[in-house]
Amino acid sequence: MKETDLKDLLKDMSLEEKIMQLVQLPGWVFQGDAAVTGLAEATGSERAKMLAGSTLGLWGADRIKALQDAHMKNQPHHIPMLFMLDVIHGHKTVMPCPLGQGATFDPDTVKKGAEVQAKEASADGVQVTFSPMADLVRDARWGRVLESTGEDKYLNSRLVAAMVEGYQGEDPKDADHVAACVKHFAAYGGAEAGRDYTNVELSEHTLREQYLPGYRAGIDAGAKLVMTSFNTLNGIPSSANKWLMRDILRDDMKFDGVLISDWAAIAEIKNWGLSEDFKEASRLALEAGVDIDMCTDCYQNNLEDLLKEGALKEDLIDEAVMRVLKLKNDLGLFEDPYHGADAAKFEKLALSKEHREVARDAARKSFVLLENKNDALPLKAKKLAFIGPYVTDRNLHSTWAISCDENHAISLETAVKELYDGSDVECRFAVGCEMLEDGTELSRETFASKLSDAEKEALLKEALEAAKWADEVVLCLGEDICQSGESTSRVSITLPAPQLALFQEVVKVAKKTVTLIFNGRPLELDDISKKTDALLVCWRPGTEGAHAVTDVISGKFSPQGKLPMSFPYTAAQAPVHYDSYNTGRPKPTEGPSMFTSRFLDCPNEPRYRFGYGLTYSKFEVSAVKLSAEKLEKADAAGITATVSVKNVGNAEATETVQLYIRDMVGSRVRPVKELKGFEKVTLAPGASKEVSFKITEDMLRFWTMNNCFESEAGKFKVFVGLCSCTENAAEFELI
Ligand code: BGC
Repeated sequence: MKETDLKDLLKDMSLEEKIMQLVQLPGWVFQGDAAVTGLAEATGSERAKMLAGSTLGLWGADRIKALQDAHMKNQPHHIPMLFMLDVIHGHKTVMPCPLGQGATFDPDTVKKGAEVQAKEASADGVQVTFSPMADLVRDARWGRVLESTGEDKYLNSRLVAAMVEGYQGEDPKDADHVAACVKHFAAYGGAEAGRDYTNVELSEHTLREQYLPGYRAGIDAGAKLVMTSFNTLNGIPSSANKWLMRDILRDDMKFDGVLISDWAAIAEIKNWGLSEDFKEASRLALEAGVDIDMCTDCYQNNLEDLLKEGALKEDLIDEAVMRVLKLKNDLGLFEDPYHGADAAKFEKLALSKEHREVARDAARKSFVLLENKNDALPLKAKKLAFIGPYVTDRNLHSTWAISCDENHAISLETAVKELYDGSDVECRFAVGCEMLEDGTELSRETFASKLSDAEKEALLKEALEAAKWADEVVLCLGEDICQSGESTSRVSITLPAPQLALFQEVVKVAKKTVTLIFNGRPLELDDISKKTDALLVCWRPGTEGAHAVTDVISGKFSPQGKLPMSFPYTAAQAPVHYDSYNTGRPKPTEGPSMFTSRFLDCPNEPRYRFGYGLTYSKFEVSAVKLSAEKLEKADAAGITATVSVKNVGNAEATETVQLYIRDMVGSRVRPVKELKGFEKVTLAPGASKEVSFKITEDMLRFWTMNNCFESEAGKFKVFVGLCSCTENAAEFELI
């Protein structure tokens, strides 16, 4: 449809029709012939179903086509409805969770994963995905770190952009693609004490320098939607924050797509105490520029009254409706209201060999090898025992893979049997303990043990016998699937108690142990790291997680993941991140540290740092060579930092060479290091390669005391290495 036609359509619509374009109903109100209950009643039942502009949480090509047909028949102007869904890291074929994707440091892999998700979801009737989550995260207590690509703005920006490109393709109108929604605007990851849904206090410079770039990258990549966040930012709930939504999002970031509230976030403006009632909350949200009200009846019940009372101008409603119509048009819904939903195509695509291969590759690239004493990995022993709840648990996805089915994933036990089938390797398998302690609080329920003490003892006995028998034990441990994701904040980020107890018993009797961790967040692993020979972080690896594990432990594939988020010694260090300030009293690396910035009982640094991860080989990086000692601000060609990287170990492996920069003196203090580039190199033993990074003036900008992004003349240190802890550096001056 041409833009003039959209304008004519808008002119012709009744006020009720217009307001209803701004209302999103939860999918369950459309389920079968079930009586409309609860929230659905509040949203106006049959009339609302007839007119609502969008819904979320539904999939299934035939079902969506039928709903679309019925909807368009009733909608006075036959305007199609939008079908949205949280396809966060997989629809049917599930990729590793976004934090795992962060560990790949590999935009191409992430993009391929998003393409697969878009293909499966769009063929199944989905038109918009509520992804990517661009929230920067620095506190592992927050369960939603699982959905982020980590603590670094540059890495986040690269991967968020890759996701948007993968979801939307060249043109989201294309039947194989969906529209992307960058969320949660803004700074949702900065929640106080890592507790979900709470306040975020941030200085403007930290907000602009650290938290906003990820969202901006998604918007620059063309994301069609943005979602507001649940938190308040410096005292204002995001969905009512006019400065954030109009000045920053619309004017500064030039976002002209649809801004949707998070679930019930408009109604929550009242709970926060920013408005007395839902009517005022609706006015604040619309004025802030929130176009769609997700799953409440705030807009539906209040916009007309606000208009009649003169508290709102119809222009604001028209502006929001126009954006919704434009999104429908951008998706081509006026021509093809099903947007490529096709049951036969879906059957062929979903979980296809090709899609599984993409997921397997992404998963094995995401694993991070934290320890590998005496080359415990890859496995060489002929008698192996696999012990722990993740030997059989097939929940290798996360609570944010809502449309997948864990039955499409195989367990580690099955994958290991496949791997060693017909070989001379003997394996035993033992679960050893329950996943969780009785009474553990989860996102939706409380875990209730079904085992008697005698049964628990029998599990342990079997595991210890296997551990004693084996030459090498692989412990398969982790968080329960429901311990990370939304509303899963925890003050204690350890493995569940029964698994810790199992670990302690097994390491006493085992000759050698390899510990695999399945997790949605950084965990406290210090004690484990001391007692196990090898430690591999597998995140929530998705549908092909078990195969990816066998690829890595067998040595078919060398680990290459790098931590996208620091793993602290203890949650009490939070927030802990590599790009902190030097302080006025930095703790010396050696000697007395009295009256310096430190903890008495814990290092300042995390246990494992951002950017860290081992391979099955060893690499050396030469000293950094700069092409010039001075960089002129106007010099677009910039200067080049070059190193030579050599594989000095015995296996082919892939390393991630990382570029960090420190601005030595600024009008505001600058972080000790900031990631500015990375490149993957795959080298055979003995081989080496030159890696160069171009440094230009725009990479040195920050939010200065002039309240704008600009660079400041002076000295800069350039670090190139294999982890954020690298001290391999050279200096130049910006003039
Ligand atoms: C979450 C969003 C999600 C939305 C819709 C909310 O609870 O915060 O991330 O997209 O629900 O399911």
